[in-house]
Amino acid sequence: MTSYAHRLVLWYKAHRREMPWRNTSNPYEIWVSETMLQQTRVETVIPYYHAFLRDFPTVAALAAADEQAVLKRWQGLGYYSRARNLHRAAKVLMADHGGEIPPDVESFRKLPGVGPYTAGAVMSIAFHLPVPAVDGNVMRVMTRWLGIALPIETAACRNQVTEQTRAWLQEADPAALTQALMELGATVCTPRSPRCEACPIAEGCFANLRNAVERFPVRKAKAERRRIDIAALWLEERGRLWLEQRPDEGLLAGMWQLPAWEVHQEGGTESELAALVRDGLEKWAAAGDIPPTQLPASFAKIDEARHIFTHLEWVVHVFRPIYTAPPAPLPEVARRRKVNAEELSELPLPRIYEKLLTRFAGP
Ligand code: ADE
Repeated sequence: MTSYAHRLVLWYKAHRREMPWRNTSNPYEIWVSETMLQQTRVETVIPYYHAFLRDFPTVAALAAADEQAVLKRWQGLGYYSRARNLHRAAKVLMADHGGEIPPDVESFRKLPGVGPYTAGAVMSIAFHLPVPAVDGNVMRVMTRWLGIALPIETAACRNQVTEQTRAWLQEADPAALTQALMELGATVCTPRSPRCEACPIAEGCFANLRNAVERFPVRKAKAERRRIDIAALWLEERGRLWLEQRPDEGLLAGMWQLPAWEVHQEGGTESELAALVRDGLEKWAAAGDIPPTQLPASFAKIDEARHIFTHLEWVVHVFRPIYTAPPAPLPEVARRRKVNAEELSELPLPRIYEKLLTRFAGP
């Protein structure tokens, strides 16, 4: 009898979909693809993958690039720490590994941003090493196949899945097996309406045998996503718009956006939000960044946008200052500049601000 691992590999060879990273054995290219694919869908990734490798074709080219250029190439993909970590990791590879990805999981795991999933994917796909790469697809396939009723968020559930995957990796080519599990999860063992009749391992699938496939994986009740309201300032000066650079650490680090202030309580009325912008400008004045005579008479709310992150939702409310007489130009200070549409297009912007700013840049 053909083993389950071997059946998966045979199925993959017959049914795999074409993807650009499936035609390379270059570890750097595979690493870039796996990093992009971690939180992003295949169709979205493809153009970014080509553009990124065109601009940064090797570890050396990436390491030599400017961080802002790397972030700019990533713009729109989200989860920008992936790009920053890839860039930092490339520098470490140049310094410590002669620009090569080490074919050894312990060394590779030490690089910034390389977690168990990325390490497993690159080690198995590029180097054919039996290191499990457990993503959401693999969790779904394996919790069904094993019949694990523990919540998918628990370490116990993940460990069971990882160990069964490791066992299968001993029995078949790791590069094909890793991708077979992902592909099965993406095309057959789908969250809704799985096609068990097309599955090469249905015969051993505990969930299928019990006719309960859609009941797996089991999830804990979801924690609510926290909503953060943000008041942002749209300050335009003779065709130039004021932007501020985000701090070097944390969410969307180093990217550019409208100057903005977070509401600390839930919600916030329009006048409370406007007051936040006024307080912000008063702080600029107190710090000597702008003359105190330059404070506007009032604010008008001109736009609003929402963006959902994994654990939070941002609601950005945009305010324009209304002056009683034309104000004098304000000076630029560290991390705050006024840009024209062309300069704007060169800066890495969080998606939500990119959306808001299209009306400045024009169609
Ligand atoms: N998702 C994560 N890695 C992938 C891969 N190598 N192919 C398709 N989808 C993926």
